Amino acid sequence: MFSPFQRALAREQQAFLARDRRGWGEHLVRVRNFLGVGLERADPERPTLILGAGSGLEVPWAKAPKVTTGWDADPFSRLRTLFRHRRWSPWVFGDITGAFAPLEAAAQRAVRESWSGRRRRREVARVRLAALLPSIQTDPLNLQAWILRQRPGTILAANFMGQLAPSAQRIVERAFAPEDPWESDPEKGDALAEALDAWTARLVRHLLETLAASGAELWLVHDRAVLSGGKPLELAVFTPDWRAQLRATERLEILDPLAGVDVVAALEGLPPLRAERWLWPLGPDQLHVVEALAYERRSELDQIFGS
Ligand SMILES: C[S@@+](CC[C@H](N)C(=O)[O-])C[C@H]1O[C@@H](n2cnc3c(N)ncnc32)[C@H](O)[C@@H]1O
Repeated sequence: MFSPFQRALAREQQAFLARDRRGWGEHLVRVRNFLGVGLERADPERPTLILGAGSGLEVPWAKAPKVTTGWDADPFSRLRTLFRHRRWSPWVFGDITGAFAPLEAAAQRAVRESWSGRRRRREVARVRLAALLPSIQTDPLNLQAWILRQRPGTILAANFMGQLAPSAQRIVERAFAPEDPWESDPEKGDALAEALDAWTARLVRHLLETLAASGAELWLVHDRAVLSGGKPLELAVFTPDWRAQLRATERLEILDPLAGVDVVAALEGLPPLRAERWLWPLGPDQLHVVEALAYERRSELDQIFGS
């Protein structure tokens, strides 16, 4: 049986693959090239791990060393990779973060009394969940255990981090359905939305800390910003602060899918290999700023793994 989380990812991946890809040419060339270099550099004697491997649309599996594992919670991802690349690799089907099951349990506990199953008033449930969120764990324990066991030489994060915030939102919305958990008055603050944002930021930071502590060479691709409104935008030369790279003549509506976490700043202590950003027109009214960052391998695992 697939979990609601897995089913939601499978539906999203289906919708992602069914989109009109005519404007995706440059993105696909750049992302395949970037991840391809990471795979070509990977030590064939050490395991390689691809997080968010999906169907392999963005991943040139032909360049992957023999012992490469895909990790994606979408139950069809491995099969799709087989059809696309003729590659049947070891696979982990779980949630990379391990945090969505505890989030789902907490959201359900907030919405319904555990002893009677009765639904709480929406406002009470909102307050309860906002209060619970700071204590919901965000350490990627399964990923840490995998890294400790396998000691990968290279880890690729293939464009999954931008999905963490929408996944968290969807889990909360599912628990509250048919009610809407969010404050509808834009003039009022929304303590639940703020608490979920803070939780998501912690999740992204813990994930990055885990990747940094793995000692592996890192090749990370993620949505850095999502822009709607169809306003013209260009990118200036790369600068560590992604906002300083945006060149627009009109005011932009920018959504930060990483809940305010700056990946370049979070990984500042690692030896950089490559850093670039490009624009990906995902749809007629949706422009993504993609960030691609690579860091050299270090020899040892850090304390975070308790080794
Ligand atoms: C935008 S797609 C990237 C496509 C993929 N790199 C490819 O080449 O097909 C994001 C992928 O990350 C997976 N994903 C997102 N969040 C995840 C999570 N928390 N755990 C495991 N997989 C996740 C999705 O199932 C999806 O396949």
